[in-house]
Amino acid sequence: MEAPTINRFPNQHLAMIFPVLLIFLRASAAAVASDTLNTGGNITDGETLVSAAGSFTLGFFSPTGVPAKRYLGIWFTASPDAVCWVANRDTPLSNTTSGVLEIAAMGILRLLDGGSGQTTWSSNTTRSAPAVAQLLDTGNLVVREQSGGGDVLWQSFDHPSNTLLAGMRLGMDPQTGAEWSLTSWRAPNDPAPGDCRRALDTRGLPDCVSWQGGVKKYRTGPWNGLWFSGVPEMASYSELFSNEVVVRADEVAYIFNATAGAPFSRLVLSEVGVLQRLAWDPASRVWNIFAQAPRDVCDDYAMCGAFGLCNVNTASTLFCSCIAGFGPVNPSQWSMRESGGGCRRNVPLECGNGTTTDGFMVVRGVKLPDTDNTTVDRSATLDQCRARCFANCSCVAYAAADIRGGGAGSGCVMWMNYLVDVRYVDKGQDLYVRLAKSEFAKEKRMDVARIVLPILASVLALTAACLYLVWICRLRGKATSLFRMIRNNNTNRRY
Ligand SMILES: *[C@@H]1O[C@H](CO)[C@@H](O)[C@H](O)[C@H]1NC(C)=O
Ligand SMILES: *[C@@H]1O[C@H](CO)[C@@H](O)[C@H](O)[C@H]1NC(C)=O
Ligand SMILES: *[C@@H]1O[C@H](CO)[C@@H](O)[C@H](O)[C@H]1NC(C)=O
Ligand SMILES: *[C@@H]1O[C@H](CO)[C@@H](O)[C@H](O)[C@H]1NC(C)=O
Ligand SMILES: *[C@@H]1O[C@H](CO)[C@@H](O)[C@H](O)[C@H]1NC(C)=O
Ligand SMILES: *[C@@H]1O[C@H](CO)[C@@H](O)[C@H](O)[C@H]1NC(C)=O
Ligand SMILES: *[C@@H]1O[C@H](CO)[C@@H](O)[C@H](O)[C@H]1NC(C)=O
Repeated sequence: MEAPTINRFPNQHLAMIFPVLLIFLRASAAAVASDTLNTGGNITDGETLVSAAGSFTLGFFSPTGVPAKRYLGIWFTASPDAVCWVANRDTPLSNTTSGVLEIAAMGILRLLDGGSGQTTWSSNTTRSAPAVAQLLDTGNLVVREQSGGGDVLWQSFDHPSNTLLAGMRLGMDPQTGAEWSLTSWRAPNDPAPGDCRRALDTRGLPDCVSWQGGVKKYRTGPWNGLWFSGVPEMASYSELFSNEVVVRADEVAYIFNATAGAPFSRLVLSEVGVLQRLAWDPASRVWNIFAQAPRDVCDDYAMCGAFGLCNVNTASTLFCSCIAGFGPVNPSQWSMRESGGGCRRNVPLECGNGTTTDGFMVVRGVKLPDTDNTTVDRSATLDQCRARCFANCSCVAYAAADIRGGGAGSGCVMWMNYLVDVRYVDKGQDLYVRLAKSEFAKEKRMDVARIVLPILASVLALTAACLYLVWICRLRGKATSLFRMIRNNNTNRRY
């Protein structure tokens, strides 16, 4: 009798709570859980837009420890600390939770201080039309024309903060000069643009470069069709994140894409200029570091100076040596661990008046030098490349621009004047360096020594072994005759 009574109470509670819950959910769905802001609509501090599948949230936040500053941002819903984009980086709302994001009549997003009515941030479109803003499941906030083809008027992916998400571009539009690059936060709790920048360098062959102020700190090496020359490990996770460099008239850009089933991942440029690829582990709810750059001393830009060659496995020589045919500009400086002065040619080139006696020495397995001042021809063959470099006395080196076809590669990149930022890497490329004829004679002498010395050594070893054998045989012979003598003696004694 007791039991059913007891059971009835929770049911009654549920019956009472359920409609309340439903009403609450419906209300919050209308005010909060939408992914779209229609023309004239707004969200205030405390309200959010949530993308259709819930991956991303747009709303107001304060960085840890700075409650007085309010920013409008987009974050990864499962990990609100993972802020992927910030609108008003330079202009936080101070001491107020009266911020309002509205989409004005002509498709402009505007962030207002609801108290003073002042605009602290707005989107900038070249064309205006009545529009709707929608937060997509990629993390992109897109403003689309309401009528017609629904053209994109503005999107947050075109204005990256410090984070690159799948589908975002790092690069530029050569026609408009518009650039997509990452800018670090000033501090972990200050989204204001910091000192460090990561951009695609489109001069020569495209490569990704990290800058600190005006100083180049790290480069990935040129795109070789499959990966950035200095980051061969990109190939090892290409089943999860495909990498692509697009070269078109209106776009030169690096894009990564996540394949189905890949963990959610983001590339973040830290305040000190370190770029990390982080991947979300939903089970343990942590971000794992998937890859990081720079990785080691040899990644420091121009670590060994002009014509220097960095090798992480040679700590004993302070990682730096000179490319074959070159020696330290200032040996005393070099021994004082200042290798940045670089290397210079041991023997001047012999080139001019349309003739040359120079040749090319191959340096194998390297991240190709900075291609900023290079001449690139993607359609040339490597043989044509060699001929062109040979014919131009300013050309100090050449290499294949693209390794997709296998073999020695195709396409042509030619360096003028000097080479900088070369290091050994796994699966590195071949670099052909111009040297004076006499350097090859030296190399040949070295080669001769390399071949002849081991032969001499083996001959000597063989001779020694034979002599030893002969000696042993002789000894054995003597021992045998001695034994026979003793036996004979014994026999003699017995009889
Ligand atoms: C935001 O929208 C509400 C109606 O949804 C309106 O009452 C309010 O005035 C709007 N605020 C601003 C600042 O536009
Ligand atoms: C915000 O409030 C704090 C404490 O009330 C005050 O010290 C600070 O000056 C205020 N900042 C602004 C920008 O009003
Ligand atoms: C909007 O863009 C134009 C040209 O692209 C630029 O001249 C102008 O300063 C920008 N305005 C704002 C508020 O960013
Ligand atoms: C990224 O992958 C999705 C499917 O996984 C595809 O629809 C989309 O076109 C790809 N984007 C790029 C830029 O490759
Ligand atoms: C080029 O030719 C001129 C005249 O024929 C000669 O004086 C000069 O030394 C030559 N230069 C080289 C680098 O061979
Ligand atoms: C490219 O040329 C510019 C101008 O001559 C020079 O300042 C820069 O150091 C060169 N860069 C490289 C990598 O050779
Ligand atoms: C050598 O190459 C440089 C750079 O591309 C070019 O300016 C120069 O005219 C070339 N010289 C010759 C003789 O082709």
